[in-house]
Amino acid sequence: MNPLRSLILAAAGNDTIASLVATAPLSRDVVRRFVAGERDSDAVAVTERLVGAGLDVTLDHLGEDTTDVAQADTTVRAYLSLLDALDATGLTAHAEVSVKLSAVGQKLDERLAGDNAATIAAAAERVGTTVTLDMEDHTTTDSTLGILADLRAEYPKTGAVLQAYLRRTEGDCRDLAGAGSRVRLCKGAYAEPETVAFPDPHQVDLSYVRCVNVLLAGQGYPMFATHDPRLIRVIDERARWYDRKPGSVEFQMLYGIRPDEQRRLAAEGNKVRVYVPYGVQWYGYLMRRLAERPANLGFFLRALATKS
Ligand code: FDA
Repeated sequence: MNPLRSLILAAAGNDTIASLVATAPLSRDVVRRFVAGERDSDAVAVTERLVGAGLDVTLDHLGEDTTDVAQADTTVRAYLSLLDALDATGLTAHAEVSVKLSAVGQKLDERLAGDNAATIAAAAERVGTTVTLDMEDHTTTDSTLGILADLRAEYPKTGAVLQAYLRRTEGDCRDLAGAGSRVRLCKGAYAEPETVAFPDPHQVDLSYVRCVNVLLAGQGYPMFATHDPRLIRVIDERARWYDRKPGSVEFQMLYGIRPDEQRRLAAEGNKVRVYVPYGVQWYGYLMRRLAERPANLGFFLRALATKS
């Protein structure tokens, strides 16, 4: 892994750095570029704007690694409140939610996390939308896929995320390429050991392309989450090769990253979904975005220095 990336990811776990960055008011443009805001109303306002521009949305209530039952319960209630707000504004045809199982208690008690995710999935189904389970570090992959299988028995539209940097993922794509399955394929954002993940970005890209082929050849609904121009070209070309009709595949990108490309792809008739994070716990998310693209770090630090 790029040493700067490792450094930033290490800084993400450093309490002093965390409190320095976290005390910068969220209203600062630089954070707002990647995070919708702290409240439901912020999330809804950004969703309305994106949907108005012809994009779909998945909303992530920020927070992870809950080690406390009450905190997990607060996260569940936050999702229920958000789903009500999306329903009230008529946005559920274009907006779903993404859930991190660690935020609803996975590290505390797997069964609790499964029950909490089911509560959110039931609420999503009631208002006519879906849940996608985010994927976290590799120690959680088996547990997350197990919970996904249970959820899909009752809520078959529940989606999963698979990470191309993991050596196991091509096999997981085969397992999840069946009819009705919704799979979001991304490169992967955590610092992982070489024993489980490809260390070289080129190997990750090759793995991504192999997974694209498996998912497009299957009967499921693939959601390709990447900003990488080369991969987007490959996906576009392979989707035509596999005779995928518009609407049977999605492109997905993060809020604030390559917004012009999001609009360009949508204008060409593709379904494009933007992953919009919101909530008070935005720090860890922001650090992962900075680690992906160290150029953003200079931009971020300059903005903090000039605005404080
Ligand atoms: P890559 O990082 O190689 O970037 C390719 C190009 O995209 C760059 O050259 C640049 O032009 C642009 N770009 C990428 N990141 C940028 C940034 N931060 N700022 C500005 N430009 C940038 N991961 C995970 O482990 N579990 C998950 O559940 C998810 N979920 C998820 C959902 C969605 C919708 C997306 C888009 C991504 C995720 N991810 C994720 C994150 C994912 O694993 C990955 O870390 C990022 O998408 C960056 O990888 P790219 O494929 O964009 O390629």
